[in-house]
Amino acid sequence: MHIGIMGLGYVGLPLAVAFAEAGHDVTALDTDARKIDSIRRRESYIEDIPSDRLAAVADRIEATRHAQPLARCDAVLICVPTPLTANREPDLGPLMSATRALSGVLQSGQLVVVESTTYPGTTRERIAPLLEECGLVAGRDFNVAFSPERVDPGRTDFTLRTTPKIVGGLTDACADRAVALYEAVCDTVVRVTTPDAAELAKLLENIFRSVNIALVNEMAMLADRMGIDIWEVVDAAATKPYGFMRFDPGPGMGGHCLPVDPFYLSWRAREFDMTAEFIELAGKVNQNMPYHCVARIERVLNDAAKAVRGSRIAVFGVSYKAGVGDMRESPALKIIDVLAGLGADVVYHDPHVPELVEQGLRSTSVDDTLDGADLAVIVTAHPGVDHDSIVERAPLALDLRGVTRRSKDRSTVQL
Ligand SMILES: NC(=O)c1ccc[n+]([C@@H]2O[C@H](COP(=O)([O-])OP(=O)(O)OC[C@H]3O[C@@H](n4cnc5c(N)ncnc54)[C@H](O)[C@@H]3O)[C@@H](O)[C@H]2O)c1
Repeated sequence: MHIGIMGLGYVGLPLAVAFAEAGHDVTALDTDARKIDSIRRRESYIEDIPSDRLAAVADRIEATRHAQPLARCDAVLICVPTPLTANREPDLGPLMSATRALSGVLQSGQLVVVESTTYPGTTRERIAPLLEECGLVAGRDFNVAFSPERVDPGRTDFTLRTTPKIVGGLTDACADRAVALYEAVCDTVVRVTTPDAAELAKLLENIFRSVNIALVNEMAMLADRMGIDIWEVVDAAATKPYGFMRFDPGPGMGGHCLPVDPFYLSWRAREFDMTAEFIELAGKVNQNMPYHCVARIERVLNDAAKAVRGSRIAVFGVSYKAGVGDMRESPALKIIDVLAGLGADVVYHDPHVPELVEQGLRSTSVDDTLDGADLAVIVTAHPGVDHDSIVERAPLALDLRGVTRRSKDRSTVQL
């Protein structure tokens, strides 16, 4: 097969490499010239795809900024961003613009699959009609399906091949073709009856996580007031062999998906006279967590008769989750900005994030970060960083991830 991929980020580049590894030709399109140049140089910019893996299949990947080569493809997968506007409403701009570009070169017999996360109805009501502006008819002259991406950056136990892939086609024939396509790179393909069901399934998965994270974060705030160790509580509850799924509290939700996707559904729900209250409440609790963490920092300093203003605060880990350098929606940014606004002197160490451009900060070594610090705060606990030693060496320490609970230093404060 000849596969076209539009949008070569965390979702699109791994897909391009997977199809090339399965022996298919890939036309990889992105509007970002730096990404195209990087692929042409056989250098990966996604941590999950080592450059040698990309280089091994680079001969089968044609990287381009132009839509015309997509006309030669059997199937085109759309993997562009689906962000929120400043008012937290769905921004379908990139998705519409990619679809419009594809419509200009669409050929009879092609299959188009949307992978970008979006609200139920997008593929049927927005994508198919826009593609049809070329004069071809969806479901008759070309096929359309939705298949949500489930990649979890940094994860190695589940891969594209071993993670079941959901597919919903506009017609049965559309679904047949999309199932056959994904069977080339996935062991299990799960077929649902409509694109709308596939769109909603993806949102249910993310909202499930968002609501459960909010629940355990609310518990953490309550346990803090009650003087109970939330980590001990979570550890104990997680011993139940059924009916409980572990979620850990933390400084807030980050990444491209969880802080964004649920609001696609709450926005859509309003059209159906519904308020999606779980979604809104979970968003509210999770968005408040960085502020709760700052209040926690203020208390730790206050107990030592210190003010935030003028204190040197050493932040360990700034990406949104352990083991990766992804900064999108990272709660560390909010914590750092609020602390800086309060007059703190913030320094940080993160082996995955060399620089925070907007904050004007560069990652320093563990020793330099601790040098002269009044307080060490573990915001994201990267593997390979010795957090026990950090909290033992810092005059004051606050652990927002519960990773130093068993450290010899009993003075460390937990979230
Ligand atoms: N990152 C994840 O872990 C993840 C997981 C599941 C689903 N998703 C969803 O997949 C979609 C893509 O996410 P991502 O993380 O890969 O985003 P990303 O920002 O890493 O990559 C998107 C790419 O699309 C390109 N792009 C933007 N507009 C374009 C256009 N009109 N034509 C061609 N390319 C264009 C951008 O330059 C960028 O390289 C989103 O809807 C996201 O919600 C992401």
